[in-house]
Amino acid sequence: MLWHEVGHPPSRGSGASPCRLALYPGECQPLNPVAGVGDVGPVQPVRHAVPVDRPSEEQTAETVRQVRALTTPEGAAALARAAALLAEGVDAVTALTRLRAEVGTDLAGPAWGIARQRLKARATFGADADRMLFTGDTLEQAGRPELAARRAARLLAGGADSVADLGCAAGTDTIALARAGARVLAVDVDPVARELTAANAEALGVADDVWVAAGDAVELVAAARGGEVAGCGAAVLDPARRAGGRRLLDPDRWSPPWSTVAELLTKVPTSVVKVAPGLDHDRVPDGVEAEWVSVGGSIVEALLWGGAVSATWRRATVVRDGTAHELTADADPGPAPAGPVRAWLHEPDPAVIRSGLVSLVAADLGATLVDPTIAYLTSDGAAGGPWVSSYRVDEVLPFNLKKLKALLRERGVGRVVVKKRGSAIEPETLARQLRGPGSGAATVVVTRVAGAPTALVCDLINQG
Ligand SMILES: C[S@@+](CC[C@H](N)C(=O)[O-])C[C@H]1O[C@@H](n2cnc3c(N)ncnc32)[C@H](O)[C@@H]1O
Repeated sequence: MLWHEVGHPPSRGSGASPCRLALYPGECQPLNPVAGVGDVGPVQPVRHAVPVDRPSEEQTAETVRQVRALTTPEGAAALARAAALLAEGVDAVTALTRLRAEVGTDLAGPAWGIARQRLKARATFGADADRMLFTGDTLEQAGRPELAARRAARLLAGGADSVADLGCAAGTDTIALARAGARVLAVDVDPVARELTAANAEALGVADDVWVAAGDAVELVAAARGGEVAGCGAAVLDPARRAGGRRLLDPDRWSPPWSTVAELLTKVPTSVVKVAPGLDHDRVPDGVEAEWVSVGGSIVEALLWGGAVSATWRRATVVRDGTAHELTADADPGPAPAGPVRAWLHEPDPAVIRSGLVSLVAADLGATLVDPTIAYLTSDGAAGGPWVSSYRVDEVLPFNLKKLKALLRERGVGRVVVKKRGSAIEPETLARQLRGPGSGAATVVVTRVAGAPTALVCDLINQG
């Protein structure tokens, strides 16, 4: 393994003396600005102007020191006290004053900052949240643990037992991989990320299977040989896709950039890369499976699976009420045919749309598209199952505000939900304009039908 080649034993679960593979402080991504820890209180003096999204080395070192301090018994007590004050609903100024008096000025701000992140994390991480440390940015970047566990299980199913997590942030993927039975090399260019990963691995009892190391994924992937990276037979890569609070739409600007993503998928076949859900299909290399995952009707992640773990061409995974439903195609199924609006309108789940599998669902339902460019399906019958939400179509009319309003009044409709696809209207504004005195409800779908702006007055019957 690479860490042996460089002559350092891996530091098991310790961010204090990580195995140094390579460290480029100047390349640290703007992912752990100190605001996440101790973001209230006088703990982060900024001595000189730095871009808001790129913490100085001094700030980073201070955040690392704060994170470390919170892992001591005194830090744990400060965190417990901060959590109690938060639970009591004490305001920030009062809480910080009390914390400074009770646990000292050094721990007060960081403990309060982390307690607030834990509160936010609870919805996603459950009981684990109260043992983990997150900055604001690492929490925002962290995926859902149930999906991380699913990814880990699939990645390891072929027998790989060591995984490089190339950009570990707060270590949520690292922890999922270790819990799934792997030995994990958690790498990040950001010292704060490494510190958090080490602390979280320790807190969740997987430190014996986790090595935390400073390293640049670009270089590690460039050096990958024989299907391994950094001496590991499998890899997870989750590039940073935001900067300055904004999404980076161009994959060449991700960190690591697209070139590293493509190189990893080629060189390390047992690999999975998290990408932006909007990734262009043309980017997906041959032999790589692309999967879009939605939870409760919203896309939450898109994944590229390397050749050894790729099982199909495209996969849509729709998670409803905790159950994952999967739709796959081994080759591009092509577009669905288009036809006139019939008795039912079906809105495919976004994972089905993004994965390019609408025509499979159309064939299954005996449905056609309302327009060749619009992902609404129409059929004679209702549809059950997870792939679509279905609406019974009551009226179809050319889009005209006055006529639509009159029709809804006539039908006694008061509450209106507006959905749109292929139209410039603003749904909330139109819903307000259409609201009436009646007690009925309707869903108005504004779209193009055979190229013409059209309104469909519908009832929602099946929500996916
Ligand atoms: C999107 S986050 C990873 C989130 C993580 N998978 C999770 O679920 O919590 C990306 C991470 O990659 C790190 N990173 C960015 N460029 C890197 C590079 N060239 N080498 C190593 N790590 C890098 C960032 O510091 C950041 O922590």
